[in-house]
Amino acid sequence: MIRTFKASHFRCLENIELALAPDFNLIFGANASGKTSLLEALAYLGRGKSFRGASTANLIQHGAQEFVLFGQVDNDGRHRRIGVRNSRAGLEIRVDGEGGGAAALAEALPLQVIDPEVHNLVAGGPEQRRRFLDWVAFHVEPEHLTAWRRFRRVLKQRNAALRGNSRPAAINSWNAEFVELSMALDASRRRSLEVAKGSLEGYGQGLLGTDLGFDYQQGWKKELALEALLTEGLERDLQLGATQYGPHRADLKIRYDERQARKLVSRGQQKLLASAMILAAAETAQTALERPLLLLLDDPAAELDADSLDRLMEAVAMLGCQVVATSLERAALSIPEGAAVFHVEHGVLSPAGEPVKRPKTL
Ligand SMILES: Nc1ncnc2c1ncn2[C@@H]1O[C@H](COP(=O)(O)OP(=O)(O)OP(=O)(O)O)[C@@H](O)[C@H]1O
Ligand SMILES: [Mg+2]
Repeated sequence: MIRTFKASHFRCLENIELALAPDFNLIFGANASGKTSLLEALAYLGRGKSFRGASTANLIQHGAQEFVLFGQVDNDGRHRRIGVRNSRAGLEIRVDGEGGGAAALAEALPLQVIDPEVHNLVAGGPEQRRRFLDWVAFHVEPEHLTAWRRFRRVLKQRNAALRGNSRPAAINSWNAEFVELSMALDASRRRSLEVAKGSLEGYGQGLLGTDLGFDYQQGWKKELALEALLTEGLERDLQLGATQYGPHRADLKIRYDERQARKLVSRGQQKLLASAMILAAAETAQTALERPLLLLLDDPAAELDADSLDRLMEAVAMLGCQVVATSLERAALSIPEGAAVFHVEHGVLSPAGEPVKRPKTL
């Protein structure tokens, strides 16, 4: 968990420093006060990138040259200092004074985000669901990351050969490694999904009151060998300038009953479903890592009625992770006793004393 956090020149946050509570932290403030920016900064420290997909130029405070983030994390008594400095010259990552990559940050500060865009996990294209599944797999099976990186490199090279109109023999020379890594990714994704299944069903019941099913679609025709598909599909790959079959085309299909399907046109229901998936992923990772994750909840009240919001917050409490949540009003969320509360205004944070509890709706 993260104990102290400092950010300077990150979006509207000129210079902030805060001591975080181990369980629940609430940041409240008006529109454009800097709530999402603060969560984005925290997530950047754990991922080396923005969850809003923003470029470095957009993240550096207007008029500044670089932003710096720093955190002290405490995992089971093991203290670590992690830092990120980013300027137009590039990203510099430090973990306990040593240089490293984004994987070192993720290892020190594993986190998940539920923000108002979360419904895209359900309603958007397959890429987000692949990323979701790979994130689970990274935590359940650490070798998944190595295989995933190697696969990405091979895919890039094969696609470059396709676009460069290389001879068929040169393109096909990538096939053996491509197939081997595809099989490895496919197998670890399937196993990880199996491990996460209980949590997915549990949070599906908790948030939507329904049985959810998840079917993994591997990215090529099930009954056919990938090797043969690559050779047979070469003509089309050349036309597309991209490899059409493989785990980079996988998807995670969500199964629900008819009653649920009708409801799932609603944004609020999509948000609940996507949140159930994120909480299940977080629970699976927590169990694998044997330590609590950081969960960033940006404006959880958005799109949800009071009942749904209560269910979401109860599910979050069940997960038992460290939470940093934002809201427009201080009393908009029912938060546990002992939570740390901060008010943010024009990018400046101040502790806000004893929390006010929202009375339960009758
Ligand atoms: N690079 C930057 N430099 C300075 N200010 C920035 C930069 N990028 C964004 N901002 C400003 O930061 C402010 C805070 O934005 P943020 O999205 O964090 O607000 P918020 O509190 O989450 O608001 P809302 O309640 O509407 O979600 C905005 O006024 C935005 O224009
Ligand atoms: Mg916001």
